Amino acid sequence: MLDGKKSLFSGMQATGNLTLGNYLGALKNWVTLNEEYECFYCVVDEHSITVRQDPAELRKRARALLTLYIAAGLDPKKNCIYYQSHVSAHAELSWILNCYTYMGELNRMTQFKDKSAKHTDNINAGLYTYPVLMAADILLFQSDVVPVGSDQLQHLELTRDVAMRFNNLYGDVFTIPEAYLGKVGARIMSLQDPEKKMSKSDENPNGSIYLMDDTDTIIRKCKRAVTDSDNQILYSEDKPGIRNLIDIYSATTGLSKEEVEKEFDGKGYGDFKLAVGEAIVSVLKPLQDRYNELTADKVFIDQMIKENAEKASYYANKTLRKVQKKVGFPERIR
Ligand code: TRP
Repeated sequence: MLDGKKSLFSGMQATGNLTLGNYLGALKNWVTLNEEYECFYCVVDEHSITVRQDPAELRKRARALLTLYIAAGLDPKKNCIYYQSHVSAHAELSWILNCYTYMGELNRMTQFKDKSAKHTDNINAGLYTYPVLMAADILLFQSDVVPVGSDQLQHLELTRDVAMRFNNLYGDVFTIPEAYLGKVGARIMSLQDPEKKMSKSDENPNGSIYLMDDTDTIIRKCKRAVTDSDNQILYSEDKPGIRNLIDIYSATTGLSKEEVEKEFDGKGYGDFKLAVGEAIVSVLKPLQDRYNELTADKVFIDQMIKENAEKASYYANKTLRKVQKKVGFPERIR
């Protein structure tokens, strides 16, 4: 709770390109949440350096992600969209929470195990304490709800445990956050392997439609989508490829599955795939135009970055000061 309103926090890494799955499954459904929640969407650049990054590339991607959020419809006057590194309270609270998190807990984190297996030459302490920084992100804003993918639920569970441990010692300091289970969008699968979620970190770029893909690329990827061979457009368990394309068509046109089946009754996969591609273009093209407009408006974006960092700092510092007092740090002299 912040100023009597429930609060919502989500963090995104600026690594990898956002996909149609991120848009239809999450982003698109977030634009009205600010009516019910005080919303914070943080570009978590501090988390990104737990694996080696090219500095210029990281900076570019971080700004692109932030711009894309606005292009997708999140109004920066109503949603606080900001960089983690602009709000020093994240790192400060993270340090404190490190002292209330057990190594035994961090040892159990499956993402740490996966990432350290993948980056054997750089198993750094930041990669290990990554979930503590994430806990700090969430707890700084007294977040009630956190929209996260299933891969982040373990980190959210740890956040709750640490918050409860802290509250048990010092009284009600933190709101205990929950996973956001509101209206969830379509679950979009890979075009090349429809049993797998469409992912921004997929090595095969043909499996994912990226939000910045141009028209030709989108159409080509749809035409190449893996399907079956019976040439019937039916929403059925044993037709994962076609099912996914129906989901995409339905999410981009607003038609129900039945309406889609009816529209393509008697038609072949070639026609259907082309229609899916065109439907995607009709959604992504305006988003891309808006993105390009925003990118050209440096003054607007800079101003919004400044204002939102100030807003985030205000709330974050309020929590941080409370925590610092609880653990026994000396009072500031004004
Ligand atoms: N770890 C999250 C991910 O990789 C990103 C993240 C960082 C996050 N801090 C967060 C998500 C706080 C939700 C809340 O997806």
